[in-house]
Amino acid sequence: MKVGIVGCGSMGSGIAQVAATAKETVVVYDTNANALEKAESSLRKIFNRLIEKGKYTEQEANDIIGRIEYTNTLEKLSGADIVIEAIIESLEIKQSVFKQLEGLVSKDAILASNTSSLSIASIAASCEFSSRVVGIHFFNPAPLMKLVEIIPAVSTSSAILTKAKEIIDSWGKTTVLVKDTPGFIVNRVARPFYGEALRIYEEGIANFATIDAAMKQVGGFRMGPFELMDYIGNDINYTVTETVFKAFYYDPRYKPSFTQKRMSEAGYLGRKSGKGYYDYSDNANSQGEISEEVLEEIFNRILAMLINEAADALFWNIASKEDIDLAMRFGTNYPKGLLAWADEIGIETILNRLNSLYETYCEDRYRPSPLLRKMAKEGSTFFS
Ligand SMILES: NC(=O)c1ccc[n+]([C@@H]2O[C@H](COP(=O)([O-])OP(=O)(O)OC[C@H]3O[C@@H](n4cnc5c(N)ncnc54)[C@H](O)[C@@H]3O)[C@@H](O)[C@H]2O)c1
Repeated sequence: MKVGIVGCGSMGSGIAQVAATAKETVVVYDTNANALEKAESSLRKIFNRLIEKGKYTEQEANDIIGRIEYTNTLEKLSGADIVIEAIIESLEIKQSVFKQLEGLVSKDAILASNTSSLSIASIAASCEFSSRVVGIHFFNPAPLMKLVEIIPAVSTSSAILTKAKEIIDSWGKTTVLVKDTPGFIVNRVARPFYGEALRIYEEGIANFATIDAAMKQVGGFRMGPFELMDYIGNDINYTVTETVFKAFYYDPRYKPSFTQKRMSEAGYLGRKSGKGYYDYSDNANSQGEISEEVLEEIFNRILAMLINEAADALFWNIASKEDIDLAMRFGTNYPKGLLAWADEIGIETILNRLNSLYETYCEDRYRPSPLLRKMAKEGSTFFS
């Protein structure tokens, strides 16, 4: 099969590596010659390390690299069976690229976008045959993250959807099916992990390191919210929150935080700038003395908000309960699926925590999902 990739930034390069590793013939197109050169040499370095670690032989690595052609000639994508676009997040530019791609591939070829925040419907609308356009959303870094969200637009045909899922499954990824709604599953359901942590900090309940410790020590999360925001970059994480907030017609559940906005404005972007919530030059922040009880309170509050978000995504039929849990385990490395976690803790306990937050703050942000209220009344669970 011939796979076309448009854009060879962090995502396009990673997706090309995934496809070539799965023995596909890959053509990577980018308008920027420097970006192409950089992508090619970075891939060589990645494989040199993988050879050193004994993951691949020299021959296997050469075969994979040899399957990828880098080009700044768009026509080289002609005849591709599937093209995955991973360029700058601009609707106008993406639409113009899709229009050009349409003229190069056959009518039954798949045209996919890796967009994180634009609707697939709006990208597909630029095509004459919009039934072959679908969202295929990889996570960063694509070779390491198992999850891929598959998003049909209203116009996507079921044949294209099935074919897209089969291809990505055959590349060894875990696919979930999700409605064309803001943030899809992961970037929607994960919002409280950052938003509620920032809010707890802003209220003066605890410092960054304490909130991180609560999520790691009590909840078993691999990284705390502030460590993760520093890792992702405060600029990127803030923009995702703001985009989701606007796309949900300013639902207060997704309200961005001034703390993060100021960090971003100040250039305290996190690891990539050497300073974010933590100082990466001398690791200056320390947790200090904090009681076990406070750690549990922080964890319970953030987890209840995450579960509420997952339950609400299910309430609105964004995805199946199985896919929502899979997405959060494989797209964000959460220790457990949020809905299974809710079953374990008890739906009523989660509902009580949310009701108590709602009563304390009288804010719509803390409204429990109708699904949790219904389930608590019925005494039902998500899975068992
Ligand atoms: N970075 C992430 O964590 C992440 C995760 C999932 C999805 N995404 C989505 O993937 C897409 C790409 O993100 P990225 O982080 O890899 O971006 P990036 O900035 O690293 O790379 C974008 C590349 O696209 C190229 N490009 C720009 N306009 C082009 C055009 N008209 N034709 C061909 N190439 C063009 C640029 O030269 C650049 O090399 C975006 O839609 C983003 O929302 C990003």
